[in-house]
Amino acid sequence: MENEQLQRIDYGGSLPVENVQALASENLKEIPSRYVRPEAEFDQVSVEDHSLEIPTIDMSKLLDEKHPLSPHEELARLHSACRDWGFFQLINHGVPKEVVEKMKIDTHEFFQLPLEKKKTYAQLPNSIEGYGQAFVQSEEQKLDWGDMLFLLARPVSVRNMRFWPTHPTSFRESMDKYSQELHKVAIYLLRFMSWNLGLHSEAVTSLFEDGRQGLRTNFYPPCVQANKALGISPHSDATGLTLLLHVNDGQGLQIKKYGKWVPVKPIPDAFIVNIGDVIEIMSNGEYKSIEHRAVVNTEKNRISVAAFHGPHTKAMVGPLPELVKKSPAKYKTISNEDYLRLLLSRKLDGKNLIDHMKL
Ligand code: OGA
Ligand code: NI
Repeated sequence: MENEQLQRIDYGGSLPVENVQALASENLKEIPSRYVRPEAEFDQVSVEDHSLEIPTIDMSKLLDEKHPLSPHEELARLHSACRDWGFFQLINHGVPKEVVEKMKIDTHEFFQLPLEKKKTYAQLPNSIEGYGQAFVQSEEQKLDWGDMLFLLARPVSVRNMRFWPTHPTSFRESMDKYSQELHKVAIYLLRFMSWNLGLHSEAVTSLFEDGRQGLRTNFYPPCVQANKALGISPHSDATGLTLLLHVNDGQGLQIKKYGKWVPVKPIPDAFIVNIGDVIEIMSNGEYKSIEHRAVVNTEKNRISVAAFHGPHTKAMVGPLPELVKKSPAKYKTISNEDYLRLLLSRKLDGKNLIDHMKL
């Protein structure tokens, strides 16, 4: 219990702002000025340029011990995906189709509920969990064209069921199963990354086995001025490893590559995996957490679920000792508690958190 209270520590919250789904349904001709982003560069690079497509990694090959060559080759591909891209699509990940499908259906249904029902799960002051928006720190700050439901899902003891929808009735069970499966996939990937970094196999996983997992469901409604708004501001993910799933089809995710915003074309049911700041720090900069954002469109809702995996609360966030023996530390080492506090006191703004951690 004591442990539980510690882990549910108050990290600060987000200021309440208007519900975007409701705003989008008002048939406005123009969006309110707080959503207009003159700073955003909307020019697109050609989607047909295959050299700008993020790599695809096949999990079944990584796990196939009978195949003497493929795990080796796929491990090498994983290493360069983490080092040169910080992003990849993971196919044949082994999460049962029914787990994914059930989660998709229930998520979709949740956002179809009337606003008043959804608000039962609204964020409370000083809480990062619940239905609303994240990282709103001031009344002047520009806003993203999207709503979200954020739940802390692991360790299971930190769950605050107050924020877990009971409509649709299977929502909690679907999310629980999804959370468990995604945690497994994340641990496999972290073990492969450890090998690739020349560490002993449990060097990273021992920090993440009882680690924190947050599930952020993003709902981006259509926007009349889609070329003026952003679904999610440019940021790198502050945690260790993110696995993003598209609940419906539609594009929107873009990553910063060679100084340009490059759209990601999601492969159906693949996870889009990205390195977060914590892995960049732990790998002492060998792996990179890449800035990304989401744009919106005039036609359709887009729904995505991001599963963030971070180390346990008592872990230290810093370059791994085995790596620092080989080359000097490029980042500070602080406790994960301090790191989380730092993270949640900021607005989403590019890579500002990791810049703060650089030595
Ligand atoms: C996120 C994120 C992108 C998307 O939730 O951190 O980057 O396409 N989402 O929804
Ligand atoms: Ni992100």
